[in-house]
This record gives sequence, C-alpha cells and structure tokens, in this order.
Amino acid sequence: MVASDDEVTLKVENLRAFYTSKKGLVRAVNNVSFEVRKGESVGLFGESGAGKTSVALSILGMFDQLSRYYASTAANEENKRLWSLKDKARKKGLTSEEMGEDLPGVEGHIWFKGKDIVALDEKEYRKLRGNEITYVPQGTTKSLNPYSNIEEQASEVLWAHDEDSELVELQVMKRVLQTLDLVELGDVDLRKGMKPSQFSVGEDQRVLIAMALIPNPALMIADEPTTAVDIGLQNRILEAIQIVHDELNLSMLLISNNQGTIAKTCDRVGVMTAGHIVEFGETKRVLNSPGHPFTRAFIMSNPSMELIRKIREKGLRIRGIPGKPPDLANPLPGCPFSERCEYVQDICREKLPEYREIEKDYWVLCHRYEELPEW
Ligand SMILES: Nc1ncnc2c1ncn2[C@@H]1O[C@H](COP(=O)(O)OP(=O)(O)OP(=O)(O)O)[C@@H](O)[C@H]1O
Ligand code: SF4
Ligand SMILES: [Mg+2]
Repeated sequence: MVASDDEVTLKVENLRAFYTSKKGLVRAVNNVSFEVRKGESVGLFGESGAGKTSVALSILGMFDQLSRYYASTAANEENKRLWSLKDKARKKGLTSEEMGEDLPGVEGHIWFKGKDIVALDEKEYRKLRGNEITYVPQGTTKSLNPYSNIEEQASEVLWAHDEDSELVELQVMKRVLQTLDLVELGDVDLRKGMKPSQFSVGEDQRVLIAMALIPNPALMIADEPTTAVDIGLQNRILEAIQIVHDELNLSMLLISNNQGTIAKTCDRVGVMTAGHIVEFGETKRVLNSPGHPFTRAFIMSNPSMELIRKIREKGLRIRGIPGKPPDLANPLPGCPFSERCEYVQDICREKLPEYREIEKDYWVLCHRYEELPEW
C-alpha cells in the first residue's frame, strides 16, 4: 500500500485468524490487509459474522487467548492437538504452510508504529493494550464497574499503565476531567462522582470512549460503538467520536454494520464478508458507488432514502442478500460471496479472486468487476 512507514500507525498484512470449534477450524479472518494512517479513521463494515471483531481481537493480541479458552471448555482432543502444534510452530517461528497443516490462531503481520507485533508475548502485549492501543469493546456498558464512580474508574486506566511515570494525582484528575469533557458528557465536575447506573446507556458509552482516550493512545479501536442505543443517542456518540478524532488527530479503527456510522466517522473503509475484505477505499467512493456485488447487496438491504431514489432512477431492483453467509468452518473454495451473488459464473465458484487496485487507494476482490452494471 502507498503511505510511507512513518505516516502509518497500523498496517495489517495477510492477516488470518482461525478459531477452533467442535466443527473444526472456523476461518474467521482470511488474508486481510489494510492500513490506518496517522490521524486517519478507517472503518470495517459488513454483515454479522463477517470477522470484524476477530480482526480487532487479533490486533489487540487477544484472539489466540479467547479461542484457546473456548477450545479448553469444549475439551476436544483434536483442538488440543491443534493448539499444541500451534505452540510448537510459534516457538520455531513457523507458519501453517511451513508446518504442513492449517493451524488455529493468528498468522500474518500486524505492524504497529513500524514494529511487527503479531508474535509478541502476553507480557509485551500488556504494555501496548489499554495504553498505546485502546479498545471500546462491542456490547460495552457491562465493562464498567457498577460499584465505582466514573472518576475513579477513568483514573484507574491511567494509573494502571503509568506505574513508572511521575504522574501525580492532580495531573491524573485533570486529564480525566478534560477527556470526559471532550466527549461532551456534560456537567463533568458535578457528575464525576456518579456511578454507571446513574448514567444513560449513551452516556456510559461516552465514558467508555473517554476511558479509551485517557492514556493518549496511538490507535483507538471502537467495535460497534452505537448498537443498542436510539438514533438521537447514536448521533451524539458519533459526534463525540468525530470531535475526539479531529481534536486529537487520533488514528482510529471503527467497526460497524451500520452504513450511517461508517459514513459519519470514517475516512476510508474496508467491507467485510465471510472473513475477507472484498472492497477497500475512501468511504465516499465505497458507499456512494460500491464496486463489489456484496457491498451493493449489503447497502441495498438497508437503503437510505437517497439510495432508494437513485436505485429507482437507474431502474435497479431493491433486493436484500439472499441466502445465509457461508459456514466459516467449511469455507467456499472460490469467491466468498459466490453462493449469494447474482453475477456468479463458474470461475467464481472455482477460484478465489485476487485483489485488484482499480484506482489509487481503491481495491476490489471480484473476478467480474469490469463486467458489472454501473451503480
Ligand atoms: N470463540 C469462537 N469460537 C468459534 N467461532 C467463533 C468464535 N467467536 C466468533 N466465531 C465465529 O467467527 C466468525 C467471525 O465472528 P466475528 O465475531 O469476528 O464477526 P463480526 O463481524 O464481528 O460479527 P458481528 O457483527 O455479529 O459482531 C463468525 O462465524 C463467528 O461465528
Ligand atoms: S467474484 Fe463472482 S461471485 Fe464473487 S462477487 Fe464477483 S461476480 Fe460475484
Ligand atoms: Mg463483532
């Protein structure tokens, strides 16, 4: 990709992440590549089960841990064998290909500020996570402690990571209050002593965003930051995200299956289905004139008024996505969208397409891009 290393905060290269399950390996992330430049906000947009959260967990160094945990609870001998093989491969620095067998966990490269962090051990990852890379998890508000007031919780974030520094209490408090103010919590001085139950869901969400900002990270990952809140609150949360993005010149990775969220907050976006990014480019380019049949179908399944008008003008049909997403434990041999695509041909079923750069900074994964009707 094009930006030079010092302009890039995060560069994900050929990332794959496989879970173990009762049904075998679940290929949740397949050869995913993208970068987040300094001060840029990049979105991952796509249907449920597409692998968006799995990409985030891989970047945060939490994927293997979680997958192993589920494997151990399932007590499946084959999965235990696979994880023990993975441990051997890791020690020797070998890939699945070099071991001659597909292995669970994360493989590929995750360059963060120029350093490949994919093989860091947990101790090293702990220095990054919650500090240089912060995370607002999906289904969030349960991650706040109900018994402690928000000022205490927010300042714990800083103390936890700055044991060696000379931060004094007053500085911590100042930083916490400034950040809560930045996400427009309102009446911060008055409300900092309140517990999470005294806030609305949207306010809790903003507290979590503030907590992810307090350590002054190089990258903030927010996973579905506006699910489970009404439209008015969604807009306020998105405004808060935009404000912090603009004011702090922060690099962000924003995950959502909501087109409006992506349109409002992201400079560039990758569209995901079945563990693949099928289209990547500037948000306006991708959302206004999508080139990939999946993106078109996904946007059409929940069209904006503007899009409905455009579809009618062009004589196109409004249709959702037929059928179910493919089973990632039994992935399709060719294009991941081939079972559901209205333009499918034999080649699509047989061969996975290669990424093609259609124009500068715009990639599509489709055999038939040039032949598709104009959008
Ligand atoms: N612990 C697990 N073990 C096995 N498979 C899993 C596990 N967690 C997720 N998966 C599977 O991995 C795939 C990708 O899931 P992921 O949560 O990354 O998708 P997502 O795009 O974030 O979806 P959503 O929009 O619903 O949050 C799905 O098929 C999911 O069922
Ligand atoms: S490669 Fe074929 S099946 Fe896949 S999106 Fe393109 S036209 Fe459809
Ligand atoms: Mg998710």
